[in-house]
Amino acid sequence: MKQSPEKKETAEQAEASLSTNYVVRAIGVKKVYTMGAEKVHALRGVDFAVRRGEYISIMGPSGSGKSTLFNMIGGLDKPNEGQVYIDEVDIAALNPVELAWLRCHKVGYIFQTYNLITVATALDNVMLPMTFAGMQQADAQDKAIKILERVGLGERVLHKPLQMSGGQQQRVAIARALANSPSIILADEPTANLDKKTGLQIINLLKELNMTEGVSIITATHDHKMLDISDRIAWVRDGQIEKFQKRSELEIKEGEMHVQ
Ligand SMILES: Nc1ncnc2c1ncn2[C@@H]1O[C@H](COP(=O)(O)OP(=O)(O)O)[C@@H](O)[C@H]1O
Ligand SMILES: [Mg+2]
Repeated sequence: MKQSPEKKETAEQAEASLSTNYVVRAIGVKKVYTMGAEKVHALRGVDFAVRRGEYISIMGPSGSGKSTLFNMIGGLDKPNEGQVYIDEVDIAALNPVELAWLRCHKVGYIFQTYNLITVATALDNVMLPMTFAGMQQADAQDKAIKILERVGLGERVLHKPLQMSGGQQQRVAIARALANSPSIILADEPTANLDKKTGLQIINLLKELNMTEGVSIITATHDHKMLDISDRIAWVRDGQIEKFQKRSELEIKEGEMHVQ
């Protein structure tokens, strides 16, 4: 049946108003890595949407495709098939300069191994994305100090990464991720190199920033400590999302987590 033009417009408007609630959308995303004659199907068709202000964890065993999905939704790599929208911008439609701008302003990245510049101070590490975005040096410095204080490193601004503990380095990375006030923080295994207690402190800091700054947080992780602070969990297996679960759907018994 043919739709009338008025009706089509209304449907599009409805879709538009619905979609503004999402900071990230992935539709039918597939990724194949070619290794010589071998093909690795890392993502086999993933649909994934994150609401503004949501804290979502992508959980799954090693090799299930978490980092690949992370790279797709962060605009760090492109899918073979499917679309990725960041703040409702189709990233496939961007040229390299536009994509760099979007990543710089909309997304903050946190990695398992912190990925800090080791010869630079905490302050310089946090100022770098601001300088890259064109902010004046003095303003960048003021803002970087405030963010470092916010993550509990007010006393460590002039320390270099190797003069800090793993937990402190991850706090610098979190501060750097916040530098340009992004709408999304993407964290790939942010607690994997930390002991349990320090890992929990980092998780609590991420949750606090999510609550107070309203930044959406997407973590790829297999750390079950992440479960009870996530609004939603995407369970990934073999390149596919097996199921989504809300926190309220998790069964928590005597401090133990029964998840599946
Ligand atoms: N750059 C790459 N080249 C080839 N294969 C890759 C590459 N990155 C990941 N893979 C493969 O894709 C699959 C998913 O990997 P990954 O997304 O890193 O999983 P996870 O983060 O869940 O451990 C794995 O089988 C992995 O070996
Ligand atoms: Mg990974």
